[in-house]
Amino acid sequence: MNIKNNILETIGNTPLIRLNKITKTFPCPVLAKVDYFNPGNSVKDRMAVKMIEVAEKEGKLKPGGTIIECTSGNTGMGLALVACVKGYKCIFTTTDKQSKEKVDILKAVGAEVIVCPTNVEPEDPRSYYSVAKRLASEIPNSFHCNQYDNLANRLAHYETTGPEIWEQTDGKLTHLVCTAGTGGTITGAAMFLKEKNPRIQVWAIDVYGSLLTKYFRTGETDMQEVHPYISEGFGEDFVPENYDMSVIDHFEQVTDKEGAVMARRLAKEEGLFCGYSAGSCMQGLLQLKTRLKKDDLVVCIFHDHGSRYVAKIYNDQWMIERGFLDVKTFRDVVSARGTKRLITVEPTQTVAEAVELMKKYDIEQIPVMNGNGPVGAISEGGLFQKIFENPEIKNAKVEEVIEPSFPVVAFDTPVEKLSHLINKENGAVLSKDEAGNYHIVTKYDVIQSLGK
Ligand SMILES: Cc1ncc(COP(=O)(O)O)c(C=O)c1O
Repeated sequence: MNIKNNILETIGNTPLIRLNKITKTFPCPVLAKVDYFNPGNSVKDRMAVKMIEVAEKEGKLKPGGTIIECTSGNTGMGLALVACVKGYKCIFTTTDKQSKEKVDILKAVGAEVIVCPTNVEPEDPRSYYSVAKRLASEIPNSFHCNQYDNLANRLAHYETTGPEIWEQTDGKLTHLVCTAGTGGTITGAAMFLKEKNPRIQVWAIDVYGSLLTKYFRTGETDMQEVHPYISEGFGEDFVPENYDMSVIDHFEQVTDKEGAVMARRLAKEEGLFCGYSAGSCMQGLLQLKTRLKKDDLVVCIFHDHGSRYVAKIYNDQWMIERGFLDVKTFRDVVSARGTKRLITVEPTQTVAEAVELMKKYDIEQIPVMNGNGPVGAISEGGLFQKIFENPEIKNAKVEEVIEPSFPVVAFDTPVEKLSHLINKENGAVLSKDEAGNYHIVTKYDVIQSLGK
């Protein structure tokens, strides 16, 4: 029989998967250590177990105790799994920047989650660091993991992630590429790998707005460098104790936009449905491509799964609102606005019914459809004229006051063409999607989507 005694025994031994399409122009193979295969869907399961094992050994956490941590979600997930198996209580503090899904997932596995403001200094009593610290001092038999400065974090990667990569590549890797947050993953894995072969190059991927890159290059913690960023899971506004910068050879910064766009490419082109930081990791490596040679063998670590980001980087509207996706076609305008049910009237309905719909949905024009598709339209402007001529018009049938139909275009019609079709006489354009559903785009929709 091959049975795991509990969920914690499934942590680690994640696969190393060759990238095929995104890396087509690279001179050497690029492999991804895909750590969303861990049971908590991220690399952080590894260090969560280790932090608790060390705390137990050192007598800092006793049976029935409470685990406290500031976590953006993944560490919390790992800790919650440990808590389930070992019978601890969990309280996590997180920031309001994190996706709601991440918070809900933590609650699902039994944790209590306290959401704190993002844009305050770490020393501010409202910050998620300070709140965790205060709770740890107030709650008896509690243990504040402090993943930033607790060296059990990097030890987990020294003991598992590094050795796995070494064995899976038969010791042939030449480069390790990894996003850096607490520094635990990159430092722990790099310490092990450099002990085996000091020539291995270790490249840390950071985000614009984090101070880590400047610190690495100059030794200065320059708060001028720090500004809010959208990327999740990596980058820092201080330097955690888990870093040993001497095992890192280069820091590369990536924009929020390029990381998000690349995560979507990993999903579409490689079938790797990963989180934001995996996209940033891949983008950082792409920026460094010219440094690689034919005989190199690159390993990137992809930290977590895409399911936690479905309402963010995998949502077109979210991407367009942040200027991360260009609005090029009718389809994009619909995505940017959000898909809505198309309000229509039939030719045999009354004008009063049509006016009621316009009022209810706050719209100025309605396509008139019969069973086969659009046959015309009615508009506020057109009705306004006709009501003056005949006040009884409201009891008439729509077909008696019908105006010409809005133009029907292909779903991928470029936006420039739409702006030619939408004019004074004609306030909207219609199109049918692949499922046969009609959508409408108005002048307002086009202006809104281009303004984003
Ligand atoms: C999604 C994601 N990417 C990257 C990182 C950075 O890893 P580390 O904190 O080990 O530097 C984290 C850490 O929480 C993470 O959750």
